[in-house]
Amino acid sequence: MPVRTAVIPAAGLGTRFLPATKAIPKEMLPLIDRPSIQYVVEEAAEAGIQRIVLVTSRGKSTMEDHFDLAPELEAALEAKSDTRSLELVRRPAQLAEIISVRQKRQLGLGHAVLTARQAVGREPFIVYLPDDIIRHPVSATHQMLSVFERYKASVVAVEDVPRERVSSYGVIQGEQVEERLWHVRGMVEKPAPDQAPSTLGIVGRYVLTPEVFDALEKVRPGAIGEIQLTDAIALLARSQPVYAYQFQGRRYDVGTPQGMLRASVEMALEREDMAPALVPWLKALARRLEG
Ligand code: UTP
Repeated sequence: MPVRTAVIPAAGLGTRFLPATKAIPKEMLPLIDRPSIQYVVEEAAEAGIQRIVLVTSRGKSTMEDHFDLAPELEAALEAKSDTRSLELVRRPAQLAEIISVRQKRQLGLGHAVLTARQAVGREPFIVYLPDDIIRHPVSATHQMLSVFERYKASVVAVEDVPRERVSSYGVIQGEQVEERLWHVRGMVEKPAPDQAPSTLGIVGRYVLTPEVFDALEKVRPGAIGEIQLTDAIALLARSQPVYAYQFQGRRYDVGTPQGMLRASVEMALEREDMAPALVPWLKALARRLEG
């Protein structure tokens, strides 16, 4: 069965980006000129995903508004014949069908995914963590879906991370089956560097079979009282094959101010409408820093 549904858990508190996220959802902070969440929705839509289940929470309804029509704004832009702005305003609502579900209490990423169970139904789906923006000519979604199509099994995206940083990731244990691909035998959430089974850390793209929901029902809250998605996938791996795919591309974590800043500069440098003005300014800045 083809993957046609995505789940985007976006109900978290965004504490690493306070105070900006006190009243504004982290996912609505602009990365250059659009809310960061729009990039993952665009990545999904471009790969043929038709339905997006947004997991939201109290105070985050601006995300839903962003992917909705805005009749008054559109009418005002139409009256001014501002076709360029009109296109930008309409685009988010045209990307995919957006369904939103509320996570009433923030009981963790695994719990957020479980909240989407009814909306997803019994079919494979892809989970996006909207903090992880991945750039590559062949999108991470395309790469993951092609592994899923070949193996007909769950696939988690992994990155080779420096050993001293493994304690920020879920880390996989497994055997390599082909270039960039591992058969997962186990997973450890945030291990100490000397206890990590590998340096392959899980990042924000997961193609999952619907049986993961049964696993999510079974796992108990972990150390900080949250239901971890990693624990459920580790449980799933005991009853069916699960793979880890080392994606190609550059990943930015836009869930922190520093990551957002880096992503903004590097991604602006890829844009024809921004780079010409940015490059001389950055060069002058570099000279000032060196001098
Ligand atoms: P994070 O661990 O990044 O948490 O969640 P957070 O709240 O977004 O940010 P910080 O750490 O406080 O700064 C990973 C993903 O899981 C979602 C988040 O929205 C984010 O996309 N999440 C987390 C939920 O949807 N619900 C939860 O209960 C926890």
